[in-house]
Amino acid sequence: MRLNNKIALIFGGGQAPSDSPAAPMGNGRATALTFAREGAKVMVADRSIKAARAVADEITAAGGTAQAIACDVLEEAQIKDTISQTVALWGRLDILHNNVGLSIEAGDAPITEIDADAFDHIMRLNLRAMVLAAKHALPVMRNQNSGVIINISSIAATETYPWVGYKASKAAILALTEQQAIQNAEYGIRAVAIQPGMIDTVMAVDARAKAWDRSRADVAAERAARVPMKRQGTAQDVANAALFLASDEAGFISGISLRVDGASGCRIG
Ligand SMILES: NC(=O)c1ccc[n+]([C@@H]2O[C@H](COP(=O)([O-])OP(=O)(O)OC[C@H]3O[C@@H](n4cnc5c(N)ncnc54)[C@H](O)[C@@H]3O)[C@@H](O)[C@H]2O)c1
Repeated sequence: MRLNNKIALIFGGGQAPSDSPAAPMGNGRATALTFAREGAKVMVADRSIKAARAVADEITAAGGTAQAIACDVLEEAQIKDTISQTVALWGRLDILHNNVGLSIEAGDAPITEIDADAFDHIMRLNLRAMVLAAKHALPVMRNQNSGVIINISSIAATETYPWVGYKASKAAILALTEQQAIQNAEYGIRAVAIQPGMIDTVMAVDARAKAWDRSRADVAAERAARVPMKRQGTAQDVANAALFLASDEAGFISGISLRVDGASGCRIG
């Protein structure tokens, strides 16, 4: 029970839909389940209320405490309302976990081909939403004199990556996290980022298979081959890192980015 009685809010805590019943778990769902298993009360916020409910129901069925809420992080009013409802329900906010992020599915492209509207959309979804979530969560956390913000970046922020929207937004998240850490340390608030590498999720693998008209197995094998450990990670690997960073065990850790990438980030050249 490493998060006993803590209140966690996960934006993008649902699971990307898939046609396959054997689809791997996504980062948001794995993190929600892990936080709840460790004693947190979890607000599962997702654009898709169906996806949020499915995860909240899974938590409740396992004996945990969770609530689902519909929230599109493109809308500031919905972010604000979600935070207010979390605090109204459980009285505080200990962990803000920002999981929403898209690339290829949102029209990302190399810089010479990027559509301006697609770029704006990706920046709003990947970066602006995290700024706004913190804008409305920080007053609550400052009032408590405690809290943790976990921002999901990507190894794409620091390794070679072809599409400009994802690269730029995920890199900006690292700077945002450092700013959140330094400007809120005096209030006992920590801010950290996680950089997942090649993780086997529906959003990452199936979206590419669809966009490139290739099989899932083919895309998964190619991704695994690019990792020094020769396998993709799982959403549980990311959730385990989030659990540690959210817990009091990480109480003196702030402003960092933790790579969860099978050593991909160590490769230069
Ligand atoms: N899978 C990977 O290989 C990988 C690698 C690096 C980083 N990441 C990052 O991990 C995060 C999660 O990725 P995942 O593939 O595990 O997906 P996921 O399965 O956690 O799904 C993300 C959830 O976000 C929700 N969502 C999408 N747009 C939303 C919006 N506007 N408002 C609210 N909710 C919205 C979706 O409905 C979905 O339930 C992303 O930030 C991604 O960039 C993933």
